[in-house]
Amino acid sequence: MSESLKVLVIGDIIGKAGRRALQEHLPTLIDSHCIDFIIANGENMAHGFGLTQNLAEDMFNLGVNVLTNGNHCWDQRNFLNVIDDDDRYIRPMNFTSHAPGRGWTIQETAAGHKIAVINVIGQVFMGSWDCPFAAVDRAIQAIPEDVSAIIVDMHAEATSEKMGMGWYLDGRASFVYGTHTHIPTCDEIIHASGTAYQTDIGMTGSYQSIIGMKIEGALKRMVERLPQRFEAVERGASIFATLVSIDPGNRKATAIERIHIPPA
Ligand SMILES: [Fe+2]
Ligand SMILES: [Fe+2]
Repeated sequence: MSESLKVLVIGDIIGKAGRRALQEHLPTLIDSHCIDFIIANGENMAHGFGLTQNLAEDMFNLGVNVLTNGNHCWDQRNFLNVIDDDDRYIRPMNFTSHAPGRGWTIQETAAGHKIAVINVIGQVFMGSWDCPFAAVDRAIQAIPEDVSAIIVDMHAEATSEKMGMGWYLDGRASFVYGTHTHIPTCDEIIHASGTAYQTDIGMTGSYQSIIGMKIEGALKRMVERLPQRFEAVERGASIFATLVSIDPGNRKATAIERIHIPPA
């Protein structure tokens, strides 16, 4: 077996709390686990809503190789104008053909291994988008032979739809995982044909919250059914991330491990 590639996946990064936790812990995590490549979901980086180029740059400087996205992609409107400037940004492939940006990318590790990352959005409770299954088929068909790993961020609400994608890609992708719910699941597994899978990575943000947002406002919206502003909780984040080992010779996963770093 060739030496394995260590890929760390971070789910939705929520506001300042999530960004600070990564600034504090990511350098040690990279060293202690000999991490080759990092993917994070950036859709909630700017106070819970979208992302900006400056915030993304901070994450790239920390060692993040690719930022995936989701339904909050355009919350910071200027991101529409900058997404095409950097191929480390991806957004769901199955957005409409009018969306700027790209749905998948290939980036290299420091050792020169090529990693393909694909982003799709689900159709169940997520609005109406093109078929995510047909979209990943198109991307995988276009990915060249010399790519050492294929990783898929399935940004979706329904656990069943995400599990469906995991089995659909068994043997064709190295790791299929979910983002969007902000709650980690403990179902990490390596499927029969070598695809690692986890339904949701969980957010890197404060869990003294309702999916990263201040409890009072979110509760009022549920109880009173009146408009309320959602605001991200700005301190006390937990990091939830998942580390996958991949054999670059055959793109198959050999190990999957969840990582949790609680707030100090
Ligand atoms: Fe999110
Ligand atoms: Fe989302």
